Amino acid sequence: MRLEGKNIILGITGSIAAYKAAMLLRLLIKEGAEVQVVITPAGKEFITPVTLSALSNKPVVSEFFGANDGSWNSHVDLGLWADIMLIAPATATTIGKMANGIADNMLVTTYLSAKCPVLVAPAMDLDMFAHPSTQRNISILKEYGNSIVEPGEGELASGLSGKGRMEEPEKILEIVVEQLSRKKKLLNKTVLVTAGPTYEKIDPVRFIGNHSSGKMGYAIAEELAKQGAQVTLVSGPVSVSTNNRNINVVKVVSAQEMYAASISAFKNCDAAVMCAAVADFTPVKTEDQKTKRGKENWNIELEPTKDIAAELGRVKTKKQVLVGFALETNDEVANAQKKLLKKNLDFIVLNSLNDKGAGFGVDTNKITIVDRNNNQKVFELKSKVEVAKDIVEKIVEVGLE
Ligand code: CTP
Repeated sequence: MRLEGKNIILGITGSIAAYKAAMLLRLLIKEGAEVQVVITPAGKEFITPVTLSALSNKPVVSEFFGANDGSWNSHVDLGLWADIMLIAPATATTIGKMANGIADNMLVTTYLSAKCPVLVAPAMDLDMFAHPSTQRNISILKEYGNSIVEPGEGELASGLSGKGRMEEPEKILEIVVEQLSRKKKLLNKTVLVTAGPTYEKIDPVRFIGNHSSGKMGYAIAEELAKQGAQVTLVSGPVSVSTNNRNINVVKVVSAQEMYAASISAFKNCDAAVMCAAVADFTPVKTEDQKTKRGKENWNIELEPTKDIAAELGRVKTKKQVLVGFALETNDEVANAQKKLLKKNLDFIVLNSLNDKGAGFGVDTNKITIVDRNNNQKVFELKSKVEVAKDIVEKIVEVGLE
């Protein structure tokens, strides 16, 4: 009984693979889990709630209100109760609603309230799965920190053959067991992460900024939290966000604000990951009024900002782990090594602008990790979520275990 004492939400949506959900439910129950089924209206067209409630020993949740007695199903309570939420099968529609927060049924509202890990097993026709819209929504879910159980190749209900078949229930069970028994490696640790760009104000409407999206830093914060760490995320202006309760987001705008917030948080941290693209220069003076267009050139005098990573490197104790990033265009490894020593880092994550798929704005990254013993590990091109796992693994390895 590998799932004894575990609470699982099994979300079922309107796919022909819903019949496999009954088998999956049986396997979860046999392993000792308590399972609450939440089904979408379309899901009920494929499998009856009676089958599912008989297998789970519980009424199936589908509507916001009970039709007979007007009782209210609390998606918030459900979301907090669960150790894991599993959506199998997940249709293109449900994946799209989850990615975009369209909470028009119990399943998606429960998903939005859930604080637990979420596992999504897509099931659809091959062309629907391959469509850029579906792929974009899946990558948004990955960014939210959800795990995707990749569908397999094979015969589909449409008669076509290709990628879109929901993974077999036995395999999904093993993934659930593995996720729930994974040891958290950073329990009781506190980690500072800086992310995003900084904006240096020129006048009330203009600033100097850069193209950093914050995606890498937010992915690292999510992964650290997944491993049990309490995270302070000092973030410049970005459009990504997190609702992870173990991540405390401190929003800043300028390099000076990021410096102050980071210095103050670092005192109580076991580690810091300097992922932000901090402006290296800031205007010497900020105009109170908008500067009007004129015929003359406009020269703005810039002064260097404070180097946050270098300052943390100066004050850090032997027990604290400090990680920096380097975005280079030439002599990449040599430049990264210089930065590592200059800023007293424990290791540095190198991105080269010469690698396709690495750097600003994209969902992928290609990194090389260089440490103080001059070990260099080159990683392949991966999603930023996967890259975050490699970086956190290295943090654990160099001293936070
Ligand atoms: N960094 C920082 N504070 C700054 C500038 C950089 O904390 N004011 C951190 C970045 O978050 C990154 C590392 O230092 O982890 C290296 O940043 P990078 O811009 O590559 O290095 P610089 O020292 O600014 O060198 P250069 O831009 O000249 O390559």
